[in-house]
Amino acid sequence: MLNKRTNNSLDAFCMPFTPNRAAKADPMLLVSADGAYYVSAAGDRKFDAVSGLWCCNAGHNRRKIIDAVKLQLDTLDYAPSFLFGHPGAFSFAQRLASLAPPELDHVFFTNSGSEAVDTALKLALAYQTAAGEPRRTMLVGRDRAFHGAGFGGIAVGGIKANRLAFQNQLPRVAHLRHTSIPENRFSPGEPEHGAELADDLIRIIELHGAETVAAVIVEPMAGSSGVFPAPKGYLKRLRELCTRYNILLIFDEVITAFGRLGHTFAAERFGVEPDMICFAKGVSSGVAPLGGVMFSNRIHDTIMQGPEQLIELFHGYTYSGHPIAMAAGDAALSLYEKEGLFKQSRMLEARFTQLLMGLRELPNVIDLRCIGLAAAIELAPREGSPTIRAREAFLKAFREENIVLRYTGDNIILAPPLISTDEQLCDLFNGIERVLVSLD
Ligand SMILES: Cc1ncc(COP(=O)(O)O)c(C=O)c1O
Repeated sequence: MLNKRTNNSLDAFCMPFTPNRAAKADPMLLVSADGAYYVSAAGDRKFDAVSGLWCCNAGHNRRKIIDAVKLQLDTLDYAPSFLFGHPGAFSFAQRLASLAPPELDHVFFTNSGSEAVDTALKLALAYQTAAGEPRRTMLVGRDRAFHGAGFGGIAVGGIKANRLAFQNQLPRVAHLRHTSIPENRFSPGEPEHGAELADDLIRIIELHGAETVAAVIVEPMAGSSGVFPAPKGYLKRLRELCTRYNILLIFDEVITAFGRLGHTFAAERFGVEPDMICFAKGVSSGVAPLGGVMFSNRIHDTIMQGPEQLIELFHGYTYSGHPIAMAAGDAALSLYEKEGLFKQSRMLEARFTQLLMGLRELPNVIDLRCIGLAAAIELAPREGSPTIRAREAFLKAFREENIVLRYTGDNIILAPPLISTDEQLCDLFNGIERVLVSLD
């Protein structure tokens, strides 16, 4: 085989959603992790203020999950879910169904949030066809939404940069207005204003006809675009409209589930039952790639039609229900339960919010938003150089304060592990304050 020479040992791996050349010129490699900390290649301990990538909710190096994965590897490395199956997938699905809102008794497993979103959109179309409404093909997303990187996800997603270079997208998509309005600035939790923005669905219905709309997909809290919790009453209103016009409502809970907002699913917190919930990330506490869609009995029963020997849903992935992912998910759920981590998240929320709001008077801070253990610190963009100020904060936090955080646009994003202590949170916000004060 030809032994090709590359200029740099980091060249081959194309890093996702990363300025590759800058990242490789000055790499920030993480080599090990324990609890709420990473260790960098230089040997420094860094507080993980974003739970990996919103996923390691129980913290790192959790023995119970690791042991469950090891045991699974020693027992059954792989079994196809096409035609066969293995007991772990069925029992884990049953367990998730018992934790989901009452009507959501069925699960389709995927490997990621992006696949979960595409699966939910396909389920919506398959349902409408099976229900005798094949004209209902329109999928409604929302401006500023992030629904992963698949073609379905970027089409219903509302982030321009994620769509611009990929113009050949799903047809028949519409977007609701986003809920980021100036009246809500510096209001922690669910903002007071904007429930009526749900009525934007009526505009879409009036333009296209309700009888052409298959589903609406929203994040109960838009995470990746900068932590925008749904305004008070917004999701309830959306539910009412979807029910009235026979449109399916999908919650994308890839970030908000598994304790990030203090519950197994944020639907519980908001008191709204969607027809489907997409999940991923925290379900396995980031230990194994795992996602899925919880869906309702109505959708299930409508699709499961026709001769019993024929496939009802032409959809699936080689690794749907992979034994390792099932073992990791099951052990993560047990750990969350045993340590009461969702309750812990609810208890930490007040302190986390108080510390966040303490940043209000700092230079360049133009908004603070939070819900559960998720927060955004929005900085004024530097004239002519958007995102640069937040990027500088991110780099300084890593190098000078030993804090791992994220930035999106001009927002600094925080989502610490649910096991964080009061002391760790104080240190985190003190570090962020020093960074913000030092930025020009
Ligand atoms: C709401 C939401 N949906 C979908 C995704 C995509 O998940 P994944 O990166 O696992 O494909 C993300 C990722 O951050 C997300 O935040």
